[in-house]
Amino acid sequence: MDFNEKHIKVLGIESSCDETSVAVVENGRIILSNVIDTQIPIHEKYGGVVPEIASRNHIEAISRVTKKALEDANITFQDIDVIAPTYGPGLVGALLVGVSYAKALSYTLNKPLIGTNHIQGHIAANYITYPELQPPFLCVMMSGGNTQIVHVKDYTQFEVLGKTRDDAIGEAFDKVARVVGLGYPGGPKVDKIASEGKADIVLPKAHFDGDTLDFSFSGIKTAVVNLHHKNPQINVANLCASFQSTVTQILMENVEKAIQKTNIKTIALAGGVSANSYIRKAFMGLEEKQIKVYMPDLKLCTDNAAMIASAGYYNYIAGNESELSLNAIPNLSL
Ligand SMILES: Nc1ncnc2c1ncn2[C@@H]1O[C@H](COP(=O)(O)OP(=O)(O)OP(=O)(O)O)[C@@H](O)[C@H]1O
Ligand SMILES: [Mg+2]
Repeated sequence: MDFNEKHIKVLGIESSCDETSVAVVENGRIILSNVIDTQIPIHEKYGGVVPEIASRNHIEAISRVTKKALEDANITFQDIDVIAPTYGPGLVGALLVGVSYAKALSYTLNKPLIGTNHIQGHIAANYITYPELQPPFLCVMMSGGNTQIVHVKDYTQFEVLGKTRDDAIGEAFDKVARVVGLGYPGGPKVDKIASEGKADIVLPKAHFDGDTLDFSFSGIKTAVVNLHHKNPQINVANLCASFQSTVTQILMENVEKAIQKTNIKTIALAGGVSANSYIRKAFMGLEEKQIKVYMPDLKLCTDNAAMIASAGYYNYIAGNESELSLNAIPNLSL
């Protein structure tokens, strides 16, 4: 069957953290709608996401966001071919809202249910931005909850080559921002203030023996926190610039090792931290070494349902249909 000729419309549903998002994507590549209802202003005053509050807000938003996604795509429920909710990883109560809603839709509309991995979704954001991109490639997945180098062997086949042994890179950005008083979410704020500073403070880079591609970000995070507490007068812009520059070096060192190890010369970025302007520039520098670099549109780097619908499409054509007993899996891996 030639799936491309079929114009398969996937309804993607994302509720793993603090964004309620519903999208309609055709054949995994073309966005017909992508509605993102963010709870950032609600969680901002707590300095981070409060799980119970996130779940309650997903419940309030999900029907309205779905209705808007159908309206924007100019279709009705009957025109949808596949329903693809994120079922992990993420906050269990938040995930359950999207999963339960998707199961109800799948049952009443009699359409296939395709439970989709959130990390696979972040990777798939690249297929939307670059319609010509096909596996295999290496993907540097960096977000609020994950940091890993993935060998994307095929649309639904992955091998994790290295991952963080402690904090995710986005978590480190958020913690640094909170401690130096920039607020939540910290990544974009560190990005902005770092552009006004000088990276002149030496910070530690964790080193593992052997040829591992694993990361560690807790040491540098703690070093920044301690420096700020011991020297509150330290220039925040310089501290953020130094932090950002050092975590980028940590990333790039392992990425170059992964390229050497696999001899794969195509790299895609994924996850919220891939919106960072300094990191994007560093990766663009790899093009001088004949490495082809892909990075999702800024709006597709952070959580959204279009990326879930894209990954859901590839799971669907691979025949990975879910049962109605599908459950949320908070610690789901690739
Ligand atoms: N410009 C930026 N620079 C650095 N970090 C950024 C930037 N923009 C967003 N981030 C970070 O990206 C993270 C959010 O990304 P994302 O939505 O992919 O993560 P998540 O969904 O919380 O985690 P996961 O996808 O692992 O479940 C936050 O940690 C945020 O600070
Ligand atoms: Mg995410």
